[in-house]
Amino acid sequence: MGLFYCSAVESVGKNNRQSHFSDDTTSVTKAIDFKYIVSDDPFFEGKIADYSKKIKAQIVKFEEFPKVLEESQGQIAKLIFYISRHELEAKHQSIHDTLKLNPTLMCSFIVRAPIDYTGYMSLFIEEELFFTNVPDDAPTIFLVKSLVNAFTSLQMVVDKFELQKRINVSTNEISKLTRIGISLANEKDFTKLLRDILTSAREISNSDSGSLYLVEKDEKGNPRNLRFKISALDLDSDEFILPINKKSIAGYVAYTGKQLNIPNVYQLSGNEEYKFNSEFDKMSNYYSKSMLVVPMKDHHDEVVGVIQLINRKRNFQTKLTLEDMKSTAVLEYDKYSEELVMAVAGQAAVAIQNNNLIHDIETLFEGFVTASVSAIESRDPTTSGHSFRVAQYTVGLAESVNAIAVGRFKDVHFNTSQIKEIRYASLLHDFGKVGVREKVLVKAKKLEDYELDLIRWRFQFILKDVEAKLNHKKIDYLQKHGKSGYSNFEKSIDLEYQLEKDKLEEMVRIIVESNEPSILEKGHSNFLEEISKLSYQTTDGNQITLLAPKEFNFLSIRKGSLDFEERREIESHVEHTFQFLSKIPWTKELKMVPAIAHGHHEKLNGGGYPRGLTAVEIPVQAKMMAIADIFDALTDQDRPYKKAVPLERAFDILKMEVRDQHIDGDLLDIFIESKAYEKILHKRLET
Ligand SMILES: [Fe+2]
Ligand SMILES: [Fe+2]
Repeated sequence: MGLFYCSAVESVGKNNRQSHFSDDTTSVTKAIDFKYIVSDDPFFEGKIADYSKKIKAQIVKFEEFPKVLEESQGQIAKLIFYISRHELEAKHQSIHDTLKLNPTLMCSFIVRAPIDYTGYMSLFIEEELFFTNVPDDAPTIFLVKSLVNAFTSLQMVVDKFELQKRINVSTNEISKLTRIGISLANEKDFTKLLRDILTSAREISNSDSGSLYLVEKDEKGNPRNLRFKISALDLDSDEFILPINKKSIAGYVAYTGKQLNIPNVYQLSGNEEYKFNSEFDKMSNYYSKSMLVVPMKDHHDEVVGVIQLINRKRNFQTKLTLEDMKSTAVLEYDKYSEELVMAVAGQAAVAIQNNNLIHDIETLFEGFVTASVSAIESRDPTTSGHSFRVAQYTVGLAESVNAIAVGRFKDVHFNTSQIKEIRYASLLHDFGKVGVREKVLVKAKKLEDYELDLIRWRFQFILKDVEAKLNHKKIDYLQKHGKSGYSNFEKSIDLEYQLEKDKLEEMVRIIVESNEPSILEKGHSNFLEEISKLSYQTTDGNQITLLAPKEFNFLSIRKGSLDFEERREIESHVEHTFQFLSKIPWTKELKMVPAIAHGHHEKLNGGGYPRGLTAVEIPVQAKMMAIADIFDALTDQDRPYKKAVPLERAFDILKMEVRDQHIDGDLLDIFIESKAYEKILHKRLET
């Protein structure tokens, strides 16, 4: 090659992060310091022979200049042109073109010309590339110093370039870390979160594979063991458990809280406290070589998990073969990778902890809701389980709506949060019954037991009084007439008594029958009215009304067991529910809970309560809940005043509700056709 000093100088970059500034950001190979002097001076080699060690550059003849490009192969090369003004002026165009095409050539010009030469200013080559002029007759030491200074100046340019590149890479990695932080903080699906953490850690460290473990705690909150959660390899193994001790690599990191950076796991010295388990390699036909294992620590500095990264490569996208894994294609993890992965691990720990906290809060809230619903249902054991079943039916219907691809609801889709919203609204829809008096809430018949007992006793008393009156008549007869004709008299009195007794007993029978919440017969209604007008004068002279107005009013209720005021009180539960739910600071995703629950007794035709909303005003979730609510009331077996109706009859009644424009027919069709109720109903029938 005609090189005077022919050894490209190998040196490690000025700091050990040199590798991150090359195109291959993972390389840790030593960078070669390419330094060249291109000269057209035939005596140049001889002139500086004594200074070769000081200059440390290859000398290239001017005509061989393109070889510099071959040798440096696109890497940064420092190049000083020490050429005559004539050569420069003759070749400046081609030199300029070559430099333009090869931006990694860092050039400087020392012109063999008198000190006052300024002809280069009119050439294509940028003025700032000219370092100095050195006349051929100048002392050699002057030339050498100029060369050394020119290289120093070029090195400064290279350093600046490298520094800029380093800043760019760091900026890129910081933005990557920021993106990771944001995406981890926003991920609510825990399994996906763990997968994102592992992928992020692998990407930022160019790791071929990796695994993630979580620390499990006992009831007292002390670390119990390490649970393997996910692996980048498709390991056909379920989650397994590792003890937190120094024996395994992941266990060691969890136990000590310190990261491990192992260049080659098959070349451990044997003095380590941990051992590498090669079983996974065998199981998955893999070859683990370099390994970086870092703890995920929360803000209390407690280890919540471990990220294990395996086989660092030059480029994350590269797929490694088994042979590659055993070769130099796998790199050791450097300090910088450790720092980046630690940054990811820190963010991951916070995300995991946040996720756990959210999960804890949700569990707490879920427990509170369940306890509240159980408490309210315990006030009326006859409707026990109603709220839970309505929640299941409504959620089942919502999921069926999601699956529908045709019809009015084909574009309606409830996401996970909305399904949760529907579930909470359904669970708590009757919570307002807490504001309804228990005697009204559980009222099964028109009169309370004690009220009916009072009527019975009254009639019993009247009968006794009738008996006493008739006995007096018998005594009077005996006193006046003796035994003569007494037998016939007694018979007529006993007949009178029997007639009175039958009359009173018939009245009681009608009263008892009218007390039932079923639809009041017209005949009963008229008879009750007659009874209510009757009164009886006792032997003491007191006037007794057979049926008090209040009793008559209750017994005259046409359907059900409640009078107008009591019905109003029961209906007020919806408003109580809404008031109660509105006081809960629901998250954004659940903010519709009060409104959905508020609409569960509304009817499409505006005849519902409490607000008389019409079809367009009632949220679809409330329309679904209305169907579930009625369906459960019909099929519930527990209500003493009403027998559970068979499924087909329940559907017929619901269809009647559709005809009366109370509930949505399309939603009912989906409910019936999808059999959204089946699983829950069968489960209940089995128990
Ligand atoms: Fe209700
Ligand atoms: Fe209900």
